[in-house]
Amino acid sequence: MSLQTRVLGSIALLLVLALLGGSAALVLNARAAAQTEVHTAFHGAAESVRDTMKGNVAHTVTLREVVASFEGQRHVRAALVNEDGRVIVQSQIAQLDNPAPGWFAWLIEPAPLSITIPINLPQFPCVLQLLTDPRSEMAQSWGHVVTAFLTMLAFCAGAMAVVSLAFRHALRHLKDLQAGMLDVSRGHYQTRLEARGAPEFAELADGFNHMAGRLEQFSDSNRRLEQQINQVQEEERAGIARDLHDEVGPYLFALQVDASALVKSTEPETRGRGQAIRDAVMHIQQQVKDILRQLRPASELEFGLEAAIADQILFWSRRYPAIRFERSVGSDLALDRRGEDTALRIVQEGLSNAVRHGNPGLIRVVIAGQPDGVRVSVEDDGGGLKQSAAGLSQMGLPGLEERVRALDGRFIVEDLPGKGVRLVALLPDRRVREVA
Ligand SMILES: Nc1ncnc2c1ncn2[C@@H]1O[C@H](COP(=O)(O)OP(=O)(O)OP(=O)(O)O)[C@@H](O)[C@H]1O
Ligand SMILES: [Mg+2]
Repeated sequence: MSLQTRVLGSIALLLVLALLGGSAALVLNARAAAQTEVHTAFHGAAESVRDTMKGNVAHTVTLREVVASFEGQRHVRAALVNEDGRVIVQSQIAQLDNPAPGWFAWLIEPAPLSITIPINLPQFPCVLQLLTDPRSEMAQSWGHVVTAFLTMLAFCAGAMAVVSLAFRHALRHLKDLQAGMLDVSRGHYQTRLEARGAPEFAELADGFNHMAGRLEQFSDSNRRLEQQINQVQEEERAGIARDLHDEVGPYLFALQVDASALVKSTEPETRGRGQAIRDAVMHIQQQVKDILRQLRPASELEFGLEAAIADQILFWSRRYPAIRFERSVGSDLALDRRGEDTALRIVQEGLSNAVRHGNPGLIRVVIAGQPDGVRVSVEDDGGGLKQSAAGLSQMGLPGLEERVRALDGRFIVEDLPGKGVRLVALLPDRRVREVA
């Protein structure tokens, strides 16, 4: 149940309870007031009739006048009854425009009172009866209660409307905050909230902005750090490659020359050994060349990304002839030199992981342009991600993620259990990145 529903529901419940309590109090008041009003009127009337009767009531005309004086009264009725119990004449209370409903009358009706006054007229023995009639009083109370109830109802409805408006207003700020949090969790650290509304919300927005600002700073400095690390790594690899090339290369060449000289010997055994040494040296030379390519793939980019990827595939296909390699590299990709370098590293690590950790029959490399950048994917059918074996450095995938993040791209490792692994990188359009 949402917070809004809970709070508004609780307030509505309280208001309904208050309404019920108020209505009960109104009914109790009305009941007490009706009783007082009707009984007071009755006692007053009885007193006055008794006073009249003390005088000389010599004929029925006077008695009829007494009864008629009660005509249209609100609380008391009078009747003249003869000795046979027949009503000779009786008064009626005033006409009721809006009588109280039965249930309300039942709730507040006062106890009935009556009095019988014997009249000593020798030729017309009779009695004068007075009795309470609360209908008029109850109709009046009903009117008051309805008015008071409607007033309370209007107040409750107004209070509910004001509270729900205030709540909706407050929730709007919370929704802004929620959207901002979501944005930040997606890495959009430039998101800021407008500090408006109640001071509490303005403070919340200030706090959020401060947090997003700090995250933006951290993210910038992280990115710079990653770039520096990548650069240092590049330089280190380049240094190792240079050393390998400069230190080992000449000696291998010298060995090859010496072995060639031995091959020309007249001694058959020396000739045979010379040939074996020359074959071994040529093999080492080929290995060193491959290692140099691995260490300095960027240099291969001088012939373009497609050529560099073809080289990588050749490197592995020579060693794993049973694996089928497929490649598709789109033309005119929106990548700058760093983007191409990153794409090549992804392919390099993807190929190496697939042959080392999976048991694939097919490895597919696809680099394709997209409206907002370039999608690089390396996919194998080697059975899915394996548990990492102890002793492996496991720096490959995290390193790729850092590289891609340094370019503001996205990197995903998709595990397709039973099928294989797919590395996907979305590298932003170089024009977007250059503007940023
Ligand atoms: N194509 C794949 N098929 C099966 N498992 C894989 C594949 N790629 C990665 N893995 C699993 O994920 C782990 C992490 O890969 P990662 O490239 O980060 O490290 P590594 O290859 O073990 O070491 P490094 O790349 O640092 O030499 C691997 O050890 C392996 O268990
Ligand atoms: Mg690896």
